[in-house]
Amino acid sequence: MSQQEKMKFGIIGAGNIGTVHTKTLAKLQDKAETVAITDVYLPLAEERAAEHKIGKVYRTSDELLADQDIQAVVIGVPNKYHAPLAIQALEAGKHVIIEKPMAVSLEAARDIVRAQRKAQKTVMVPHQMRFEAGARMLKQHTDELGHIYNAKAGWFRRKGIPGWGTWFTRKDDSGGGPLIDIGVHLLDLSLYLMGNPKPVSVSGSTYAEFGPHKRGIGNWGTPNWDGIFDVEDLATALIKMEDGSTLTLEVSWAVNNVIENNGPFVHLMGSKGGASLQGKKAMLYKEESDKAVDIKLEVPEVKEDPRIFMYEHFIECVNQGKEPISNVMTGFTNNLVLDAIYRSSKTGNEIKIDWEI
Ligand SMILES: NC(=O)c1ccc[n+]([C@@H]2O[C@H](COP(=O)([O-])OP(=O)(O)OC[C@H]3O[C@@H](n4cnc5c(N)ncnc54)[C@H](O)[C@@H]3O)[C@@H](O)[C@H]2O)c1
Repeated sequence: MSQQEKMKFGIIGAGNIGTVHTKTLAKLQDKAETVAITDVYLPLAEERAAEHKIGKVYRTSDELLADQDIQAVVIGVPNKYHAPLAIQALEAGKHVIIEKPMAVSLEAARDIVRAQRKAQKTVMVPHQMRFEAGARMLKQHTDELGHIYNAKAGWFRRKGIPGWGTWFTRKDDSGGGPLIDIGVHLLDLSLYLMGNPKPVSVSGSTYAEFGPHKRGIGNWGTPNWDGIFDVEDLATALIKMEDGSTLTLEVSWAVNNVIENNGPFVHLMGSKGGASLQGKKAMLYKEESDKAVDIKLEVPEVKEDPRIFMYEHFIECVNQGKEPISNVMTGFTNNLVLDAIYRSSKTGNEIKIDWEI
């Protein structure tokens, strides 16, 4: 594809996030075009197509993936279907954007890595938090921190259980609760800001104090009170890296506390300095003549959605044959850690990570 041509996308899943992706792509008019959409609930795909002037609505993902006009697909469906659709898309010769978590299980994540290696197509997991202004600014300063030997990250939603009783709260469909839903964003962001150290062992615990009692409900997704809740609503973990560094990750969908204003946070502790990121606020913590110095980074007001930068990055990577910063191996690393946290919680033991693919 020449640099001037628009990249042609197909969207699989016209729900909440499918709509977000469709809107983002519509803003990238000179670089990208959504040419087709599908959803198992066809009226939704038809609605999105009418809203965004998408030319083709397919009844099935099989039909969409057979469309030779489509170069890249966006997979925005419940977690359970990420791997089968991603593998099918790679086999059909498409570049793939797979929503987080990359896979519902470690086995499924391994299958995606193998399929990507065989197909030699670009895979990106759209962790938009890496592209937010504060994170981009902080990333420019992480070299100043020396060896980042410890990090603490999390997101404690006070009342934020999404779609109670729908696929979100069914382990078979989602793979888990807040850990795999929002924790994966903070795990991904922390490892990225730490310089991608290699996780080697994990201890974790999970809890379910709210969900089973239909408490702690948020406003993402419509509840189905006849459904089931068999996932955690809080998770905590200590992740140890090959270089000796550690990461504490803690997340909840529901909790009786206000921790860091119930928003996402990352704190980095380095041998030469520290840093923290909380929403748009990015701080550096340094020393001058043995005195503590706090520096507030001037994060620019960026009007564009961070997903615009994410898509520009993806398109550039495909065009130039480069690996996206959030790729199949960073997605796999996240799945390795998530799996180890759940296994540690179940067995009560520390889990050694097995990197074999
Ligand atoms: N990056 C983010 O911040 C972010 C935010 C929200 C959701 N997500 C992720 O996006 C994915 C979807 O979440 P959502 O909130 O949009 O869910 P949703 O339930 O609103 O939408 C999912 C859509 O997929 C359709 N669908 C289900 N199986 C399908 C299949 N096999 N083929 C085609 N369509 C199918 C459903 O009919 C539904 O319309 C999840 O993996 C979730 O983790 C990411």
